Amino acid sequence: MSRPIKRIAICTGGGDAPGLNAVIRAVVIASANRGWECYGIHDGFNGILFPERYLEGGVFRLTRERVRGIGHLGGTILGTTNKGNPLHFPTRMPDGSTAETDRSDEILEYFARQELDALVSVGGDGSLTIADALHKKGLRVVGVPKTIDNDLDKTVTTFGFDTAVSFATECLDRLHSTAESHQRVMVVEVMGRYAGWIALHAGIAGNAHAILLPEIAFDLESVVRKVRARDDEGRMHSLVVVAEGAVPQHGHMEVAAPAGAGHEQRLGGMGEQVAKALQERTGKDTRVVVLGHLLRGGSPTSFDRIAALRFGAAAVRALDQGLTGVMVALAFPNVNYVALDEVAGRMKGVPLDSDTVQTARDLGICLGD
Ligand code: F6P
Repeated sequence: MSRPIKRIAICTGGGDAPGLNAVIRAVVIASANRGWECYGIHDGFNGILFPERYLEGGVFRLTRERVRGIGHLGGTILGTTNKGNPLHFPTRMPDGSTAETDRSDEILEYFARQELDALVSVGGDGSLTIADALHKKGLRVVGVPKTIDNDLDKTVTTFGFDTAVSFATECLDRLHSTAESHQRVMVVEVMGRYAGWIALHAGIAGNAHAILLPEIAFDLESVVRKVRARDDEGRMHSLVVVAEGAVPQHGHMEVAAPAGAGHEQRLGGMGEQVAKALQERTGKDTRVVVLGHLLRGGSPTSFDRIAALRFGAAAVRALDQGLTGVMVALAFPNVNYVALDEVAGRMKGVPLDSDTVQTARDLGICLGD
């Protein structure tokens, strides 16, 4: 029987997403209402691994006052990193090279030393995989699913996704009029890593004429045909949404930066490739817009705020009920809990038989196949 909870810690890891501050606020308030103390870890686990970097210490007390008025703000007051996986930590070797080392025991020792009873880990696949490993080493952990990419399994959606899709949709709305005025093709590249959720949802909501997803290897000729068919109907402009992870049928994914010690590869550049090829093949003036990190900024939509607050409160309830090794998940109309090891390392792409994909087809949107 583990001891009753008195002190918990929370960390945010991976790329930031609108709604992180709302989760932190909910966790702090729900903990305080149970008489627990809550502590924030800076920058993933860096606050524990490199305390000397932080003026107020790498781990600091989160009071109600500290989280007042932050629920609607983008980013995370804790800071985050996607280069600080304690299981594969980039470490400078004596010969000057960088290699990955496992520093997870230092996290466990810190929790024991500071009498921290549990961890709420807010993050995407990488952070939840770390959370699962720490749980298996004996730490009480509850995960909260975050990512604009919406690529986590076992939850209907993650917070951050709705905000990203809403902003991308607004951008598409704005691009229609300028594309039409100039009779141009506008190619819009969106984030999403290896999943096409943002591209598909924003593309449908924003009335794109073609959407290229990582899940459907594309044939550029099919997009060329779509643009020409629109021209033939007197619709002289076209909008093409390209997921950063989209792949041509006889080509490869565009990598902006390769993976290195402690970090994944970064995608980017497919929008530019598609725009160049479309201009060559159709002879139409073509421009590319890369939305990139704009999709990660700004205030969370009300949907993401509510999801984040519900997730944060549910994480605290899970700990209160003695649960560990679980992730809070959205299973409309409620939240539920799923085992971390059912989520860790599994990516959820867009299912090709989904009605959303079918909706795109029924609307006449070209999916590149
Ligand atoms: O996972 C979120 C995400 O924004 C992806 O959509 C994108 O591929 C990646 O992170 C970008 O990472 P970075 O912040 O390192 O540029």
